Amino acid sequence: YPLRELNTFGMPVNAANFCVLEDLAQLPALLTSDIFQRGPVLWLGGGSNLLFTRDYPGLVIKVALRGIRLLADDGDSVLVEAAAGENWHDFVQYTLAQGWSGLENLSLIPGTVGASPIQNIGAYGVEVKDHLAQVVCADLRHGGCERVLDNADCRFAYRDSVFKQQLAGQLLVTAVRFRLQRRFQPRIGYGDIQQQLQAMGAGEAPTAQQVSAAVIAIRQSKLPDPATLGNAGSFFKNPLVSRETADALLARFPALPHYPQPDGRVKLAAGWLIDQAGLKGYRDGDAGVHARQALVLVNHGHASGSQMWALANKVRDTVRERYGVELEPEPIVL
Ligand code: EPU
Repeated sequence: YPLRELNTFGMPVNAANFCVLEDLAQLPALLTSDIFQRGPVLWLGGGSNLLFTRDYPGLVIKVALRGIRLLADDGDSVLVEAAAGENWHDFVQYTLAQGWSGLENLSLIPGTVGASPIQNIGAYGVEVKDHLAQVVCADLRHGGCERVLDNADCRFAYRDSVFKQQLAGQLLVTAVRFRLQRRFQPRIGYGDIQQQLQAMGAGEAPTAQQVSAAVIAIRQSKLPDPATLGNAGSFFKNPLVSRETADALLARFPALPHYPQPDGRVKLAAGWLIDQAGLKGYRDGDAGVHARQALVLVNHGHASGSQMWALANKVRDTVRERYGVELEPEPIVL
């Protein structure tokens, strides 16, 4: 089954077997089917955070559960649930149209609602964990029975959660519940947002819709649209290093953007490291480093997964040699 249209890198790979999950009622039969039992199994959302380097030898299941419902409303805040297969950006826009704020900084992130807690998506000073109340899952080891995790159970961290660690492969996210606010509290400390809001003529107190519009404009100016240039967003995480390592690097590279973390470590801008190593816009055939954001690897047309992966390793090796810093891929590499 061809997967090219189902991954934003546009890798022309095939799955041995494929099905679409549209209704939770399908789950018990699916979990007991021979094909599922035989494995391997890949649950697929928007396909925007993975790189296929070869054909998938097992069953790919596209999660297409749909629906948004309001669960509670106390006048100040709402609890709203979205099914895993809902498009993330459309859901964010829906909440803003209802007058519910919180998710505006996360506008235009590709992918689905169900994938959002897995890597704790984040942008412009906000992470999904900041507004997430609960994650509704199907327990794959127990016939798909429902299991609800509270925010703390998810052990959220920078681009990380229990779904990638201790519970990897055990749960399918079926819906996510968000706590959103009627009174808007803007988070516009991020330099780019301030500038963009000014350029748009927004006043001192922007609305959530205006912040969303600013984020959309920034993303459109820097990040390639997967519909026209295959990519999976940032290809590497911003590395976390010790204070000592950061100080030593800053002595050599005073302009290196760095962000001290609550735990004492320091987050470095991987895009800057790659850019200053001279790789921004670098191209090996159709596999390239994006010309406007060096942290994003792009498929200029017909790059294969192994060519993309070879480029990723070249970037990693270059950064390691030049700065002694290890970059970790953000997308799942299969
Ligand atoms: N920079 C460069 N050259 C580059 C790219 C970046 O010098 O080619 C510098 C920038 O000037 C800036 C710093 O590096 O000083 C950080 O760059 P940017 O603000 O573009 O953000 P980022 O750290 O590269 C992260 C997230 C993005 C998110 C943005 C905005 C990760 C891995 N990436 O990127 O998330 O949109 O911040 O908050 O944390 C994603 O995860 O796929 C993603 C796009």
